[in-house]
Amino acid sequence: MLFTEDSRFEGIEKFDNKCWLSSPTMHGDEKHWVDDAILTNWVSTIGENINEVEKEMASIIGVKYAVALSCGTAALHLAAKLAGEKLYGQPKADSGYLSGKKVFCSDMTFDASVNPVAYENGEAVFIDSERDTWNMDPDSLEKAFEIYPDVKLIVLAHLYGTPCKMESIRRIADEHGALIIEDAAESLGAKYLLNGEWVETGNLGNYNCISFNGNKIITGSSGGMFLTNSKEDADKVRKWSTQSRENAPWYQHEELGHNYRMSNIVAGVVRGQMPYLNEHIAQKKAIYERYKKGFADLPVSMNPYDAVNSEPNFWLSCLIIDKDAMAQQTRTGLTYTYKTENGKSTPSEILDALAAFNAEGRPIWKPMHMQPIYKSHPFVSANGEDVGADIFERGLCLPSDNKMTPEQQDKVIEIVHRCFR
Ligand SMILES: Cc1ncc(COP(=O)(O)O)c(C=O)c1O
Repeated sequence: MLFTEDSRFEGIEKFDNKCWLSSPTMHGDEKHWVDDAILTNWVSTIGENINEVEKEMASIIGVKYAVALSCGTAALHLAAKLAGEKLYGQPKADSGYLSGKKVFCSDMTFDASVNPVAYENGEAVFIDSERDTWNMDPDSLEKAFEIYPDVKLIVLAHLYGTPCKMESIRRIADEHGALIIEDAAESLGAKYLLNGEWVETGNLGNYNCISFNGNKIITGSSGGMFLTNSKEDADKVRKWSTQSRENAPWYQHEELGHNYRMSNIVAGVVRGQMPYLNEHIAQKKAIYERYKKGFADLPVSMNPYDAVNSEPNFWLSCLIIDKDAMAQQTRTGLTYTYKTENGKSTPSEILDALAAFNAEGRPIWKPMHMQPIYKSHPFVSANGEDVGADIFERGLCLPSDNKMTPEQQDKVIEIVHRCFR
């Protein structure tokens, strides 16, 4: 039966304009800086917009250097190369910087976090999530070091803008002499209280990456950045990102390079967005709080965070259904089925209901160890259960667009309520 004809949803009208998961929010300043690039003819990968966003972002995050790149994935890839070079030296011409090496990776993240390990011929070992933040579980990480004591690199992501348990993870990394690649693509503006000091995500690893993808808290239409306190690393990333050209009168290449530099047009959009970062965070936080209140009488809870030691950027609001309020749901291959049961629901039903009324939600990012591409890779969990699979089974991402009005959000909240009827 169509949701719009289902008596449980009687009286609810479809949204005229789609209620998005997280869409770009332009303010007008972007046009000024893009026009400036066009009018001055600086439209390629050199220009004032690039210089300014690098300077300002370094200052916001509290790092010495920022290198503007074409996307967050490019930043993660060059971070993987830097880490590989530092740990294992230059690779042979026909192999990658992580060739034959295992790397401990966040399991519940977008695959762009971990693909760079494969680009450099490394092997990702997936570390289960914990329930307090849905991020890399320190206990599982410890267990992974017991099983694979030679591992020297960790790739972690702050899922949905919620910081990981960095104090424990940093301690474990230090005990094992391991380096950390920090994927802060989703968490720009989030902070963590490390050893009594508030530190921005993007300044918590040895190699740090952010993204300006269209769905992120601020966007350049695309784009990303590598952040560091090491001049040597910044210079190397800048060089690798511009095809590894040597300082010679002709094209001279001594290392493999990439075309990963940000354009001055994209940087113009980022430059126009940066003054609005805090405003977007405040809007996203208000959306999270409104959902929390609106769902107080349902058998669900919101994506959790450590309110003492962290300040998320609340990029995406998510919910997880209590175990005993889950109706039957089956996901196989590329399809799914579910049953409608009184007083119960499933992420699939809620997502279908939202879609029927023109609102966009999304399943929780499917854990990497469940992805066909990575199914042969090791997965380590200290929990005696697969936490990531459970969160994927019972959770979903809610419409979290910062332009969503309270009235629109009330309707989303009402639709979710009706799913439990
Ligand atoms: C956790 C995470 N890592 C990396 C990326 C990749 O960033 P980009 O799309 O800028 O390449 C994304 C999102 O796109 C992401 O969500």
